[in-house]
Amino acid sequence: MSLILIGFMASGKSSVGQLLAKILSKSFIDTDEAISQKVGMSISDFIEKFSIADFRKIETSILKEAIGQYDVLATGGGIVELEENRKLLAQEKKVVYLKTDFSIARKRISADKINKRPVFENSNPDELLACFKNREKYYQALSNYVVDTTDKNINEIVEILKKIEFV
Ligand code: S3P
Repeated sequence: MSLILIGFMASGKSSVGQLLAKILSKSFIDTDEAISQKVGMSISDFIEKFSIADFRKIETSILKEAIGQYDVLATGGGIVELEENRKLLAQEKKVVYLKTDFSIARKRISADKINKRPVFENSNPDELLACFKNREKYYQALSNYVVDTTDKNINEIVEILKKIEFV
């Protein structure tokens, strides 16, 4: 059964998942990375060229393929937007919500000059907060474990996750 990391943009899903998988010699997939490889361009370029709806379609197909195939999955923050994805996640038993304060997430996103996030770039502060609040309900409802990442470094988060047994 896969351990699936969910949470808002910049909550640390990718770096935590990668480190956890490395330490435990488990297989790992980052859905954003897999999408980017599949389409041959960055996610922001893809969304700009096509649309967020096209991105979400690929995200769903990657999620379907990856669940059960990889030990550790890091998802994109918007994975909970589609009902189809929520249904897939609801069937899983090791869904971990990396909970991060909105203000911390927002600061990290705007400081990240390498990974451009269209959902952030195309939202004003009120819209972003509304998006956070809406998704937070789903993250909470769909997760079997919640790790509050506030005041924790990556190693501390990984230590907590190591206690969640998975194969
Ligand atoms: C998105 C989050 C991004 C990426 C895409 C859309 C979102 O992933 O999937 O830009 O809708 O929140 P991160 O959560 O890794 O930033």
